[in-house]
Order: sequence, then structure tokens, then C-alpha cells
Amino acid sequence: MQALRIENLQKSFGALSVLKGVDLTVNNGETVAVIGRSGSGKSTMLRCINGLEPFNSGSIEVVGHRLDGTNKRLRDLRKEVGMVFQSYNLFPHLTVAENIKLAPRVVKNVPRAEQDTLVQEVLTKVGLREKAGSYPDELSGGQQQRAAIARSLAMKPKVMLFDEVTSALDPELTGEVLKTIAELARTGMTMILVTHEMGFARRVASHTVFMHEGRAWEAGPSEEIFTNPQTPELRAFIASDVK
Ligand SMILES: Nc1ncnc2c1ncn2[C@@H]1O[C@H](COP(=O)(O)OP(=O)(O)OP(=O)(O)O)[C@@H](O)[C@H]1O
Ligand SMILES: [Mg+2]
Repeated sequence: MQALRIENLQKSFGALSVLKGVDLTVNNGETVAVIGRSGSGKSTMLRCINGLEPFNSGSIEVVGHRLDGTNKRLRDLRKEVGMVFQSYNLFPHLTVAENIKLAPRVVKNVPRAEQDTLVQEVLTKVGLREKAGSYPDELSGGQQQRAAIARSLAMKPKVMLFDEVTSALDPELTGEVLKTIAELARTGMTMILVTHEMGFARRVASHTVFMHEGRAWEAGPSEEIFTNPQTPELRAFIASDVK
């Protein structure tokens, strides 16, 4: 079953054409890494998938919801598509547990008695059980990012979108977040992650998509993408990776 199907997606900001016909399919249970140069439209594509960005033409079908580019009727979609950004955007005046409970309570009416179980369940997944009562500014950057992932998981999404979730972190904190994501991949969560961490993409993502000139230029199983790139553009991109 397909979790995501994008066909001929086009998106401009004024005169700037950013997505020029993206085609992409993601099956349930796959972890897909999205790589490409800065400005190639990776974040824009993720935002379109989650209905955060209207688009000009083409179609997106994500976990059974069809987007028409207008951003109307997105309530159901947002319940099922989780997104974590580079900056953690936890509410600073709420504890980790309160941050996690908020959307399930408000959007899904999860009963109070089940909320604490949910908090424990998702904090266990990200290795932060002991931090339920802490405020965001009492956590390290890596812990805050894991708390943000836990908050997203609490909605029981069918697919998770990650946009450069480690790029604001010091290198020594990057590993713990990547480990959490790798763990989620092992549990079969469907994930699309924009990343500059090539080694991570290769190791953890079943498939990789290279965005270039507003298109999904080259896509395939990660092993093939990294060991046997077919286009000169992808070859040059991989060669330029200094890490
Ligand atoms: N809200 C906006 N208004 C105008 N232009 C935008 C807007 N958002 C993005 N752009 C432009 O669209 C292009 C693609 O941006 P996008 O953020 O999708 O790139 P990216 O591949 O995620 O890059 P990076 O790796 O630096 O995060 C860029 O040229 C950017 O300046
Ligand atoms: Mg980006």
C-alpha cells in the first residue's frame, strides 16, 4: 500500500519556480531520505505534503487523503501526518508531558486517564521517560528534539516527516536524535526525512531521493543511489559531500 503518491507537483513563489514537476511514491513502512542542494525545494516539498504550503498544480495523495493545493479540509490529514522541524518548537511554558498531551487532548479527545499512558509510551520510544516533568529549557538540544519527536508520535501518525531535525544541534547531540529515528525506522514507521547526513541516509533509509532543479532527479534504494548514481548531477552531489 502506498503512503504517499506525488504526481507532477509544481509550486512557485511569485516568479520563482521551485518545484517543477515532482513525482514521488513512498510505500508503507519505507524510510525515505530526501537529499539535495540548499534551495532545491526539499522543505517546500515536505510542507506541501503536510498541507502547510499551497501548490500550483499536480496532485498529492498522502495516507488516503488527496490534497488539491488549496489547503482546505486538512484537519483529518494533520491528525495522521506528523512533522518535526529543525527548531523544536515545544511550548516553553509547558512541561514535556504537557506538550505531549496537548494535541491528543484537544484534537482527538483522548481521555485524561489514557493521556499519561500515552506520555510514557512515546517518551519510552525516544528514551526520555525521566524528563516528563521537565520544562523545555531544562533539556539539552538533543533532548528537546527527541521530546518534539515524542510529541508528534503521540498523535499516532501514519507517516512522519522530518526536516533537517539535527542541523541545529551540536555534533555530539546529533547522534542521539539520529539513533531515535533509526529506531523508529526499525519499528516500521513510514518516514520521509530531509537530511544532510549522507551516512545516515545510506544506513537507515531504505530509499533515497535526490532533489535537483525542482524535480525528484534520481530515486531508488539507498544502496544503489549511493554506490551507483546514474546521473552526473547526483554523482557530483555525492562527490561534493565533505562528511
Ligand atoms: N515562503 C517563501 N517565499 C518565497 N520564496 C521561498 C519561500 N520558501 C522558500 N522559498 C524559496 O524556494 C526555494 C526552495 O526553498 P526550500 O526551503 O524548499 O529549499 P531546501 O531544499 O529545503 O534548502 P535547504 O537545504 O537550505 O533547507 C529557495 O530558493 C527559497 O528561497
Ligand atoms: Mg530546507
